[in-house]
Amino acid sequence: MTATAVERAAMTHALEIARRGPRGLNPQVGAVILSPSGDLLAEGWHRGAGTSHAEVDALSKLTPEQLRGATAVVTLEPCNHTGRTGPCAQALIDAGVRRVIYALDDPGAVSGGGAERMRAAGVDVVAGEQAEAARALIDDWLTVQRLGRPHVTVKWAQSLDGRAAAADGSSQWITGPAARADVHRRRAVADAIVVGTGTVLADDPALTARDGHALLPHQPVPVVIGVRETPADAAVRRHPHEPLFYAEHDLAAVLADLRDRGIQRVFVEGGPTLASAFLAAGLADEVLAYLAPVLIGGPKLALTDIGVPSIGDARRLVVDEWLPLGADLLVLAHPADAEGTTSTGAAAAPADLNTSRNEGAA
Ligand SMILES: NC(=O)c1ccc[n+]([C@@H]2O[C@H](COP(=O)([O-])OP(=O)(O)OC[C@H]3O[C@@H](n4cnc5c(N)ncnc54)[C@H](OP(=O)(O)O)[C@@H]3O)[C@@H](O)[C@H]2O)c1
Repeated sequence: MTATAVERAAMTHALEIARRGPRGLNPQVGAVILSPSGDLLAEGWHRGAGTSHAEVDALSKLTPEQLRGATAVVTLEPCNHTGRTGPCAQALIDAGVRRVIYALDDPGAVSGGGAERMRAAGVDVVAGEQAEAARALIDDWLTVQRLGRPHVTVKWAQSLDGRAAAADGSSQWITGPAARADVHRRRAVADAIVVGTGTVLADDPALTARDGHALLPHQPVPVVIGVRETPADAAVRRHPHEPLFYAEHDLAAVLADLRDRGIQRVFVEGGPTLASAFLAAGLADEVLAYLAPVLIGGPKLALTDIGVPSIGDARRLVVDEWLPLGADLLVLAHPADAEGTTSTGAAAAPADLNTSRNEGAA
């Protein structure tokens, strides 16, 4: 069974309205209800954890008479788990919806299975309509479900001889304007930007995403990890978002807390100590190394100990892109040992992650 042209158009619309919802703990989902003759009766979208799922939002706008025999078009498989108001699959059945078209299977072990429940109740269910577009929409959220933590990019700028700073600690600037502009564009698609206290104390970075002096519309949340105090007048304290300070070194715990705050993509721009700690812990899904044609020499290496005692233990990377930026070169790569596990090169999800959508959601 496949979707009709009207249902396909409704799915395109559902994907558009899904974007009205926030990125966060729950996925962005859109829903459209069509009458038996194909007229658009109602639309709904998910406004974040603790609020109605998209299909329930749409159902709530209609009377029982309007819903009888209707078709629901939803970007994610209606859930099968009981939150505050019960499974969405059951809500659709109870409403008398005759047909359900959805794009993407729900990956959650607890929340998945809605399609089966609806089929068992006699509803026509069509799965996979515009699945790729739906996957692209919530790719970061799906990655968090798989990993059990946010996706982590570790970025640094280095001289051709592998230094991240001069002997006195100064590192601004190793790369040229094109490379730095590229960094700002990438910051603007991250949810959080992470540094160690060493970088805060050495560079006093603003940790904003900018186009020249202008702030870009989306700003990542600034995060500082380390036990040393960030000075009261530090530039990061003037960031549009309240900075998050973690006075500890447990990176997995920090990432777990960021995940619980709905952060899906983390951009690590710390110095060599923090970058090395993320790599040593196997917590880097992507590496961005900006190579500048400059020699610095001296002790300030771009990476320190990443747990490679012998060449056989070297961390092999797979290069996704070599990108010339002015006189510099960006190498974008992911760990070879994560090859084949996911599209982002990320490791598999921990076994205990068994629910995809926040239990607090309706
Ligand atoms: N080239 C580049 O891309 C680049 C980027 C950033 C900085 N830099 C340069 O790097 C230098 C600063 O280097 P850095 O290594 O001190 O900066 P860093 O990596 O940002 O900060 C290091 C500090 O982070 C804290 N920390 C948090 N989690 C940790 C963990 N899991 N393991 C170890 N330490 C942890 C520790 O401080 P506590 O003692 O406070 O806990 C540690 O001393 C400066 O010269 C700066 O200019 C270069």
